[in-house]
Amino acid sequence: MPETIRAFTRMDQVQAPIIPIIGRMIRQTPGTISLGQGVVHYGPPPQVADAVRAALSRVSTHEYNDGAGIPALVQRIAKKLAAENQIDVSRGSRVMVTAGANMAFMHAVMATTAPGDEVILPTPFYFNHEMAIDMAGCRAVRVPTDDNYQLRVDAIANAVTSRTRAIVTISPNNPSGAVLSESSLRAVNALCRDRGLYHIADEPYEYFTYGAARHVSPGSFADAAGHTISMYSLSKAYGFAGWRIGYAVYPEHLESAMLKSQDTILICPTIAAQEAAAAALDVGRAYCEPFVRDLDSIRHSVVSELQKLGSRATVPTSDGAFYILLRVHSDMAPLALAERLIREHKVAVIPGTAFGMTDGCYFRVAYGALQKETVVQGVGRLVEGLQAILT
Ligand SMILES: Cc1ncc(COP(=O)(O)O)c(C=O)c1O
Repeated sequence: MPETIRAFTRMDQVQAPIIPIIGRMIRQTPGTISLGQGVVHYGPPPQVADAVRAALSRVSTHEYNDGAGIPALVQRIAKKLAAENQIDVSRGSRVMVTAGANMAFMHAVMATTAPGDEVILPTPFYFNHEMAIDMAGCRAVRVPTDDNYQLRVDAIANAVTSRTRAIVTISPNNPSGAVLSESSLRAVNALCRDRGLYHIADEPYEYFTYGAARHVSPGSFADAAGHTISMYSLSKAYGFAGWRIGYAVYPEHLESAMLKSQDTILICPTIAAQEAAAAALDVGRAYCEPFVRDLDSIRHSVVSELQKLGSRATVPTSDGAFYILLRVHSDMAPLALAERLIREHKVAVIPGTAFGMTDGCYFRVAYGALQKETVVQGVGRLVEGLQAILT
């Protein structure tokens, strides 16, 4: 590097994304079953291809369009929010289509903070949230959850300072699979209202709940519209991760700030992808319901397999998304253990340190990306691997 170029940048304090690190180890060990990446095993509904083909012949598909999203998609999203999330966007909110929920989060951080501000992240958190906060020159304040990864509202309240600008919740949760209780989400939302903070509610797994667990949108609570930023994604529900479409609902007073961020980073989401998203939303939630039922059955198999670890691990309740955050009773460094699991037992999981779990040896097991037999085989290898390494 030439001497005149400064060595330190804002990126030096941002954690390296874990997925490519684990991905490299997987590539070096052919035959590894990956329980690493948080993706689903299915693609979009077939109607999407027809909509995109039709869109390609329209000149407007190839031009810039509204930063907030093409009107046809924004209208469909507003209808979906009213019908499924009980969020009426005509009451003081705006909708913005983004290149995935990750981008919605980045915009929300840019729009609500100044450098040096604090954003509260209950741990475990989604690593890209912490990375976005760091990139914005803010500080992520980690607040532990309880043994079942449910929010500890008192601890969150105690972490609020004069620099706090927002509290983030993810339900159903990545990486824990916990569906956060409605009462805790209401308490966090009220805390935000009373203390002049934003509640950033990330909800990409809204359809992925099992048994009696129910997803609830904090944006639907009375008086929430003025301080709640809700974000959603088509990546999981519609097998849409590569199309990069998500959306945010946010208070109208943030419109100018949100649009500045969108205009600078993206200008507008890809028009063909927005047409594809509109077609997927027309098919609707029913599309993913059979897949969610299959995931529930996979989840049962994963949990019963993991329970074979007995006293070597704790397997907490997970009734949402497609993750389990396993606690292994070991003093080993989680990344070193993850590497041995790949190299010696050909199974990949993600170390909990990436999600802010630094008080023990945690691993996220993701079971959405593979067929049931492969997941069960992978979890079998995980159990055998841990038994072998930890003896
Ligand atoms: C909690 C959470 N938020 C956001 C995202 C990113 O979603 P998108 O693909 O819409 O950017 C993910 C993806 O795994 C996630 O788990």
